[in-house]
Amino acid sequence: MTVSTHTPTSMHHVLSADQFSSTDLAHIMQRAAEMETILQQGGSTMCQGNILGTLFYEPSTRTRLSFETAMLRLGGSVITESDVTFSSQSKGEVIEDTIRIVGGYTDIIALRTKNKGEAKLAAHYSPVPILNGGDGSGEHPTQSLLDLYTIVKHHKIGERNLNVAFVGDLKYGRTVHSLAKILRKFEGVTLQFVAPETIQMPDDYREDSDQVFTELNPEVLTTADVIYDTRMQKERFEDIELFNRVKNAFIFTPEMVASMKPDAILMHPLPRVNEIMQRVDALPQAKYFEQAINGVPVRMALIAESLGL
Ligand code: CP
Repeated sequence: MTVSTHTPTSMHHVLSADQFSSTDLAHIMQRAAEMETILQQGGSTMCQGNILGTLFYEPSTRTRLSFETAMLRLGGSVITESDVTFSSQSKGEVIEDTIRIVGGYTDIIALRTKNKGEAKLAAHYSPVPILNGGDGSGEHPTQSLLDLYTIVKHHKIGERNLNVAFVGDLKYGRTVHSLAKILRKFEGVTLQFVAPETIQMPDDYREDSDQVFTELNPEVLTTADVIYDTRMQKERFEDIELFNRVKNAFIFTPEMVASMKPDAILMHPLPRVNEIMQRVDALPQAKYFEQAINGVPVRMALIAESLGL
């Protein structure tokens, strides 16, 4: 991947993976690497005087806390609303009003909503940058940037052929929707989608060149450079019987992961439930904890870029 000093012009809000050019992506990866150095040096005062508002209307551990850590490591402050029960949204306030108000209190907002498209709606009404931390079954673009950062650390994406297999709940998995869009911007990347027919990758995110499987066959396991596994998103299934039929469709065992190429990486946005056995964690291919930690420098980079710092 070529490093660039170009300053992205598309950065203000971060709403969808669609908004990033290859040049933008190279710049964000470079900025995140610089943020890692800043972290090693104990942080920075770059964002002193700025306030991040975190509005999370769905459960989160990694996204909210890594955004908050990122702002605090940059010397800024954080206010949060992480329980909809205590939010005026529970009294019927619409997101447009909430965003107008919180945008008047803060300099930047990280937002997680239940509904697809709501981050874009919020951005329309917001006086400050909106960072989409997941909009229902739509997108999770900041996750896909930390996913890319993790891939870049292990593989020369864009400089050699790369097989990336997405496994699990591809219908409702917003992280795979955003990451597939990002990976298509690089030469030499082949995408494989492994999921039961009922939760396959939606047509909106598919291209003719993609390879589609309903089983996790040995050929996919042993030829992938990256396997990106996802949780079956029980909370998004309208039919619980359908969830019960697919919930154990793919469970990564140590034996399966050991059959992956030695330099292949197994990723997962987390949280996991049962789809990767804990005994896999010690294998060299298991990179999902490293991936989650990468959320801090990447979100530091996104906050700085969106604030124009
Ligand atoms: N990957 C991710 O979005 O995790 P959280 O739901 O814990 O934020």
